Amino acid sequence: MRILVTGGAGYIGSHTLLQLLRKPHEVLVLDNFSNSTPEALKRVKQLANADFEICEGDIQDGTRLDTAFRAFRPEAVIHFAGLKAVGDSHETPLEYYAQNVSGSIELLKAMQRHDCRRIVFSSSATVYGEARYLPFDEHHPLQPTNPYGRTKYFIEEIMRDWVASRQDASAVLLRYFNPVGADASGRIGEDPNGIPNNLVPYIAQVAVGRLQHLNVFGDDYDTRDGTGERDYIHVDDLARAHLAAIEFAAAVTGCEAINVGTGRGATVLEMVKAFERASGRAVPCKIGPRRDGDVARMLAAVDKAARLLGWNATHDIDSMCRTTWNWQSANPQGYLQA
Ligand code: NAD
Ligand code: WQD
Repeated sequence: MRILVTGGAGYIGSHTLLQLLRKPHEVLVLDNFSNSTPEALKRVKQLANADFEICEGDIQDGTRLDTAFRAFRPEAVIHFAGLKAVGDSHETPLEYYAQNVSGSIELLKAMQRHDCRRIVFSSSATVYGEARYLPFDEHHPLQPTNPYGRTKYFIEEIMRDWVASRQDASAVLLRYFNPVGADASGRIGEDPNGIPNNLVPYIAQVAVGRLQHLNVFGDDYDTRDGTGERDYIHVDDLARAHLAAIEFAAAVTGCEAINVGTGRGATVLEMVKAFERASGRAVPCKIGPRRDGDVARMLAAVDKAARLLGWNATHDIDSMCRTTWNWQSANPQGYLQA
């Protein structure tokens, strides 16, 4: 299939590209490199031993989108592009709504203009908000608790309405839980700007010596050891879910939201131990207060993904930590040092 990949240079996009190219699918990447570097795409090309075009541009720019659609004539879109930092979204909500929501509308309009009818969208488990029950299934009420999460919620609704307005369109809204890990080669991985917000990149930077210790955000939650529990999903499994989703979208019409997780949870301290095992390095921890907005537990119901996509997660947390360490130890400064 010819697939336009927005945000393809980012963490999840680059891992998905690799699998798309190996299938092989034809891809065009559209990215403004606001949170990534062309180096990631160079490495994807090397790993896949395949070439593809890159269109530097913003999804809010309809003219740029027209150029890309005209030149490449994509049959489907995988839409990763957007801003993703929960904390920043409280500071600059309008930027989040502009890039994420208006950007997605521009993309859908371009798809409409160029008769492209299939889309797979990066949504997030953050759309659920506070758990009324666990695990979260796709019928759980949606009540996101931060502007970032609300952008994902609104985009989901917009895509649902767009699909409903047409006979022949399909959208798969993939609700990722906590993506971690890296390609086994250690050549591509997560390379956050500045101090990482997320647990596993933070632990990795402690293990490699860039940061002194991990601040554990609370040990008084109602979990096995008092620290927050999350459903971590290996980025390779997540990338495979996109391949399954794009094939599903090509075969059906309509809109489906689908969780992507393992259905198993790990606490902060369990992740620290797994990382110490994987890296052979100590990860010093300081227990501190809870982080605002955090919840005790997030856990995915995964039967819908198995039923509709024939997809299951295969990696455990040891594999997630091993591959993260592989990447971090080979690239202590991320892509910068290349
Ligand atoms: P990332 O920041 O690494 O990748 C996003 C990519 O999109 C970057 O390459 C960035 O340069 C590009 N981009 C951003 N705004 C753009 C714009 N307006 N026009 C064109 N390109 C733009 O993030 P990621 O972790 O790979 O996440 C990919 C998607 O998955 C995002 O939509 C994110 O919200 C979603 N998601 C991520 C997580 C996670 O924990 N990583 C969890 C759930 C959902
Ligand atoms: C995991 C656990 C923290 C950092 C976020 C977004 C969510 C989605 C995935 C995009 C929690 C604890 C963390 C640290 C810690 N992204 N922690 N010390 O908050 O579950 O989800 O990323 O859609 O929308 O909210 O992930 O990795 O930040 O935290 O103790 O330095 O680790 O309290 O229990 P989170 P996370």
